[in-house]
Amino acid sequence: MNIINKVADMQKISKHEKQQEKTIGFVPTMGYLHEGHQQLIKKARASNDIVVLSIFVNPLQFGPNEDFEAYPRNMERDEEIAHSLGVDYLFYPTITEMYNGERTTIIKVQKRVDVLCGKHRPGHFDGVATVVMKLFQIVMPDSAYFGMKDAQQVAVIEGLINDYHLQVELIRVDTIREEDGLAKSSRNVYLNDKERLEAPYIYRALTSGKEKFLQEMSVSNAKDQIFNFLSKNTSGEIEYIEVLSYPALEPISSVKPGETAIIALALKFSKARLIDNIVFSY
Ligand code: PAJ
Repeated sequence: MNIINKVADMQKISKHEKQQEKTIGFVPTMGYLHEGHQQLIKKARASNDIVVLSIFVNPLQFGPNEDFEAYPRNMERDEEIAHSLGVDYLFYPTITEMYNGERTTIIKVQKRVDVLCGKHRPGHFDGVATVVMKLFQIVMPDSAYFGMKDAQQVAVIEGLINDYHLQVELIRVDTIREEDGLAKSSRNVYLNDKERLEAPYIYRALTSGKEKFLQEMSVSNAKDQIFNFLSKNTSGEIEYIEVLSYPALEPISSVKPGETAIIALALKFSKARLIDNIVFSY
């Protein structure tokens, strides 16, 4: 496995690989790799000649009071994992390498961001879309792998690819969970012992909310059910619970045959803000 720090070097490599008619599968991450990330890498490995993994904690997508500085990092371990999963190139740029000089443009996401995390993290998805666009220009992948754990991010990237006619196939990968249902996340390390025991109720709440919604087709009853379940079983502060269409992320009152919906929530524990969702069709 080669570690590439420079944009120009990565571009040169990708161009070369493409000239050899190799397909490039790309997994963008912020590192501290867990089994969720690993699943993306495995999927990319199974379907492409070349696998590029990027590790870059993107300052542009963190708000002023968010955890950019404290975001967990462990490059040595990440390198070992990437190597063991057969990654060909690990793109690991510095911040100055990615954001050198004055910024003259930024990608502004106009739809799908006034709800869920976008509503509570202003500018977050502009930062995500901008860095993903940059990474696509650097890695020039045929396909890019994203986890449904961040379903709103997937919806935004889908819009980005469509809007700019990007020749990248978006591959959606199902959420990988702990045995007790907690979605794997780099931020789970922030949970204290008590919170770790409570955190699995997030997925249980989503599952029971989905059942309630499908039975009664009432968004407010489903949300109430989730709210009560979380309030009873966790000490976390509920930031949002929403039931929307997917991937448009518009309000719905029911889900009809052939339509897809998402139930998503964010719960704030003392040091960790956890998100999870269920996407389902009727
Ligand atoms: P990061 O949080 O490191 O996640 C990288 C990828 O791993 C994302 O596509 C995310 O959805 C996926 N992922 C995380 N947890 C997962 C799980 N439990 N199961 C399946 N997939 C999971 O998302 C980002 O980084 C950044 O916003 C990025 C796209 C790299 C842009 O900076």
